[in-house]
Amino acid sequence: MANKLNRREFMAAGAAAITGVAVSDTASIVKAQAPTLALQRGVAPVVIASSNGHRYKNGGDVTCVELAFKMMTDGKDVLDSLIAGVNIVELDPDDTSVGFGGLPNADGVVQLDSSCMHGPKKRAGAVACIEGIRTPSLVAQKVMDLTDHHLLVGKGAQNFAKMMGFKIEDDLNTPRSRRLWMEWKRRTDPEHWLDPEKRLMAGFKAGMSMVADGLIDREHYFGTINCDGINSKGEICGVTTTSGLAWKIPGRVGDSPILGAGLYVEDKIGAAGSTGRGEANLYGLCSFLIVELMRQGKHPKDAGLEALRRIANNTIDKRLRDEKGQPNFQVIFYALNGKGEYAGTSMFPTKYAVCTEKGGELLDTATLFSAWPGRS
Ligand code: GLY
Repeated sequence: MANKLNRREFMAAGAAAITGVAVSDTASIVKAQAPTLALQRGVAPVVIASSNGHRYKNGGDVTCVELAFKMMTDGKDVLDSLIAGVNIVELDPDDTSVGFGGLPNADGVVQLDSSCMHGPKKRAGAVACIEGIRTPSLVAQKVMDLTDHHLLVGKGAQNFAKMMGFKIEDDLNTPRSRRLWMEWKRRTDPEHWLDPEKRLMAGFKAGMSMVADGLIDREHYFGTINCDGINSKGEICGVTTTSGLAWKIPGRVGDSPILGAGLYVEDKIGAAGSTGRGEANLYGLCSFLIVELMRQGKHPKDAGLEALRRIANNTIDKRLRDEKGQPNFQVIFYALNGKGEYAGTSMFPTKYAVCTEKGGELLDTATLFSAWPGRS
């Protein structure tokens, strides 16, 4: 299948499509790309994502951003391309922040959230707290395509997915996510039935101690994937999908499925999405804010940094600040505008994924603070 390009073929196809020079073993791919990859006449296509969008391959040859870029520049619908990309990460058991094998809630149940927005069609769909389906982004797309609603949750969302023919599984845990949940239980149980405030902090501290011990990737505690793209016609779409906060109270929904928070798209203006502490983002509906700032002419980088500044200013709870008064949590925004300019911005240093005609790569985010709390 054309999607299964190795890196050399992928780069060769991209380069050949731009220069118009055919490469013998990619000739058919080049032919397929040539009519749609008219970089000169429109926007230079780009796909951006959280860093897991250029890490996981689910045993295949390509990452999320590479597949999405390839499909999009082959002329496929932008949202179809982005969702096919995030499906790789949702299905990969090694990413513990998304879909199958995502870290479960406090009861050990994997509950997933997802949203998608189609810029040109001005349609959106989302699901929250859905259990038993590995690819919630595809269910969110069905909500968008087939209902008059924007968000289905819990059992209703699962029943809807069942009616749409999705396979419902009893348990989306993998041996790894179950083992990590058991470890969290072991660390929290002695204090598990304290008063709610103490229990909340005990759970958070146990989770952070697992991050400190290297058991969980820091980025996967609130881990998620957001992926946004613009094609050469300037059509913009986005998708966000997640297993949410690790060990969350059952029923907790973060920012990912909420339009304007975990994702916002307005065609021709831009797309923005997020990963990281959902509660901080929900409070300010920052993806909407970023798109509005881009509408006013701000570059995606400046818009993202402004949203992060607002989050930092709104963070007044002592438990959420470090000794310097800075937020003690990560939030990352991914944004692109109608000109094809893009940026990843974050509270603290990290990477984000990009795929252009040059191929996929991980780039540094622009940051509000230069170092993680507790590090100089
Ligand atoms: N940003 C993902 C979450 O908070 O659920």
